[in-house]
Amino acid sequence: MNSFPKLFIPGPTHVPQSVMEALATPQIGHRTEEISNLIEYITKGIQKVLYTKNNIYLISHAATGLWEMGLRNSVDKGVLHCDNGAFSSKWGKVSQACGFKNKIIEYNWGKGVKVDDIDKELSTGEYNVLAMVHNETSTGTMSNLEDISNLLSSKYPDVIWLVDAVSSMAGVKVEVDKLGIDFMLSSTQKAWGLPAGFSICSVSDKISKKSESIKNKGYFLDLKVYEKYYNKFQTPSTPSIPHLFGLKHILDLIEDEGLDQRWKRHIEMKDYTMSWAKEKGQTFFAEEGCRSNTITCIKNIQNWNIDKIYNKLLEKGFRMDRGYGKLRGKAFRIAHMGNIFMEDLQEYLHEFEKAMNA
Ligand SMILES: Cc1ncc(COP(=O)(O)O)c(C=O)c1O
Repeated sequence: MNSFPKLFIPGPTHVPQSVMEALATPQIGHRTEEISNLIEYITKGIQKVLYTKNNIYLISHAATGLWEMGLRNSVDKGVLHCDNGAFSSKWGKVSQACGFKNKIIEYNWGKGVKVDDIDKELSTGEYNVLAMVHNETSTGTMSNLEDISNLLSSKYPDVIWLVDAVSSMAGVKVEVDKLGIDFMLSSTQKAWGLPAGFSICSVSDKISKKSESIKNKGYFLDLKVYEKYYNKFQTPSTPSIPHLFGLKHILDLIEDEGLDQRWKRHIEMKDYTMSWAKEKGQTFFAEEGCRSNTITCIKNIQNWNIDKIYNKLLEKGFRMDRGYGKLRGKAFRIAHMGNIFMEDLQEYLHEFEKAMNA
């Protein structure tokens, strides 16, 4: 068994040697011109990937903290959550733990978020914030952001829109400014293809203005504190400098590949995985029209012995996913994002078949 198998789980994802080497760049001071140049470079690169002029904050902790950051800087009346999987459900619990008035629209796992449900709840006027997960990692379900964007801009222009794009950012084209997303967050261990423990968010003027009027936000997650340092291309506290070098390297790789090609590559890998699964008589967990470009969640209607395949693949040097939480064995995920290219995926699926037939 390889003690460092190649990862096909939906995060952390595969980090190749060249990226590991970028992470090992010598340290630089965090209040120096070098770091400001580095952060400016990264910021501009991320703005390009997200099609936005919004501020980009680079945050040296996991994305879970950004759920709370989004809420603490925006909620006054209340927050409407859409819960269609494990992560969107946890975000709702964060609101409850923070004591915010909230309403949770609950969906069966595998269903996309529906615009009419959001409209119905926002029409009560009781919520000034909408929080949703774009790509539910637990089920490979990707919701349609365009319909929601149209609803918010036409009927609820004051509502602040928070979007968790943890497993879609940098793997799926999301045009932040065109859609009008106020706060979009991700961590680096999914489609960015870096180690975990670092996160990124884009922040609109609307949420920044709102944040000014909110009291008792604390310090660590206050967007206004980030803004002060952002103006110098620095971070409020000492950042994870290896992640910054890693991000710069990934942005250079993205630039070389080209954004359109990157989005196309992810769609092609999704199509390939789906055709492969269909050919084997399997179906998909996510409803049609909401199947993710970065993660395919296969409903195991053929009753494959997932533990056997898992162990065989591990012997060959690959880490597979066996299904999130209650789905274990019943539906499993294949992650095809970030540093995974078509050749990697084909090799994995070839080994997968051998493991099935062994
Ligand atoms: C959709 C989604 N949101 C949030 C998180 C939490 O991210 P982190 O582990 O970086 O806090 C995850 C982690 O897998 C996720 O998939």
